[in-house]
Amino acid sequence: MNVLVAYESRTGHTRQTAEAIAQAARELGCNVEVKSVWKLVSQDVLTADMIFIGTWVQGLILMGVNPSGARRWVPTLPSLVGKSVSTFCTYAINPRNSLTRLSSMLMDRGATVVAEHAFHQNQPTEGAEGFVRSVLQPARV
Ligand SMILES: Cc1cc2nc3c(=O)[nH]c(=O)nc-3n(C[C@H](O)[C@H](O)[C@H](O)COP(=O)(O)O)c2cc1C
Repeated sequence: MNVLVAYESRTGHTRQTAEAIAQAARELGCNVEVKSVWKLVSQDVLTADMIFIGTWVQGLILMGVNPSGARRWVPTLPSLVGKSVSTFCTYAINPRNSLTRLSSMLMDRGATVVAEHAFHQNQPTEGAEGFVRSVLQPARV
């Protein structure tokens, strides 16, 4: 399975989370690519069976807590039509509904969002393995 992990990071926490997600996927035998959201090209998305997309959260007066920069970088992403996407973020206090907002923006680009996970900046890799397993190895009935 080909996995793409795309991230936006200012001071490195979200990049650390992205690397932990990538490592967990590799341990499950996946081929994994990790890239900044700003550097994605169509081929990255076309070849991916599952895409993780994450950013940090930013509070803005009167606008609540948002996925940082998403209004700028989501429109630059290649089309996500037909693609399964899992979203993630890092935060310091409370991500509020940032992930819902990010997922909604990605669905507007055609993605099917299958999972979301928020990571605290002080433990940016904690829970990455469980998150990845829940997405790539869902319980079978
Ligand atoms: C300008 C600014 C605004 C932020 N606003 C919030 C916020 O409203 N809520 C929150 O939980 N964290 C907030 N944070 C914390 C960041 O989301 C957190 O430190 C994140 O892990 C940074 O990710 P990065 O290291 O990948 O850039 C803010 C950080 C900055 C620099």
